[in-house]
Amino acid sequence: MGRSLEGMPVLVTGGGSGLGEAVVYRLVKAGAKVTLAGRRAEKVEAVARRAGAGACGVVGDVTVADDRERMVARAVEHGGGLEAVVHAAGNMYRGALEELDEQALHDVFASNTIGPMMLTALALPHLRERSGAVVFFGSVHTQRAFPGASPYAATKGALETLTGVLAAELGPQGVRVGCVRPGGVLTELNQRAGLMDDATAADRMRELGAAHALGRAGTPDEVAEAVEYLITAEWATGAVLTIDGGLGLGVTNA
Ligand SMILES: NC(=O)c1ccc[n+]([C@@H]2O[C@H](COP(=O)([O-])OP(=O)(O)OC[C@H]3O[C@@H](n4cnc5c(N)ncnc54)[C@H](OP(=O)(O)O)[C@@H]3O)[C@@H](O)[C@H]2O)c1
Repeated sequence: MGRSLEGMPVLVTGGGSGLGEAVVYRLVKAGAKVTLAGRRAEKVEAVARRAGAGACGVVGDVTVADDRERMVARAVEHGGGLEAVVHAAGNMYRGALEELDEQALHDVFASNTIGPMMLTALALPHLRERSGAVVFFGSVHTQRAFPGASPYAATKGALETLTGVLAAELGPQGVRVGCVRPGGVLTELNQRAGLMDDATAADRMRELGAAHALGRAGTPDEVAEAVEYLITAEWATGAVLTIDGGLGLGVTNA
């Protein structure tokens, strides 16, 4: 029997859309006191409203030190402490190697990898107090090569490696560290990066569905279920939990 989510204070970055949004709804439904963060106020506020009284929103950017401080302070205020941090905030950046822009590379590492590391460090005193948990978001991109997606894949590979190292480092302090590794789920990730419009993204995800062993893309709540497991499972640390419908298997019928 895992730890109860009832009354648990949780900070979810990237909670204004997609997988983070689904995590917010699932955890609030189970009784957690969730603070969700993101840069677009309208998204953050809409999700906080939809989730109900257990949720509260804070507008901020995980790459900005002052914003990270506000996120942690707001979460501690809302929940009376902080027991879990879920790092769903992330951005897609892809392109052929020779065409990559150095600043854009720095930016994607800042939001996907460095921001989550710094935010985890800031939250640590609170997590220690409650023997809490950290959940990162890896990706099937670390298991299966998508040519042209090297920047994004590299940020996710770093997070998956960090999961093990930080689990070893923080385990003796009572803090667990896990990572979900999702397959394809239709969200606004590619559209926000300006790579395609909503209709194209939906078509692409339908096509990608066939590459999953289960023959379909996932739903945001199917990933949120895995996040819930990693937060509540008392003996799970260092786990990179693949929840990808079998996309990472590289199924081929040749
Ligand atoms: N969808 C998939 O198929 C898939 C597969 C594997 C892994 N993932 C990972 O899952 C996580 C969630 O992505 P998603 O698919 O749900 O996409 P999404 O809907 O675009 O969600 C990402 C969220 O992160 C927020 N965000 C981005 N940069 C931020 C920053 N610097 N500070 C604070 N918030 C920031 C965005 O909101 P603002 O722009 O308003 O800040 C957005 O709400 C990401 O880490 C992604 O890499 C997704």
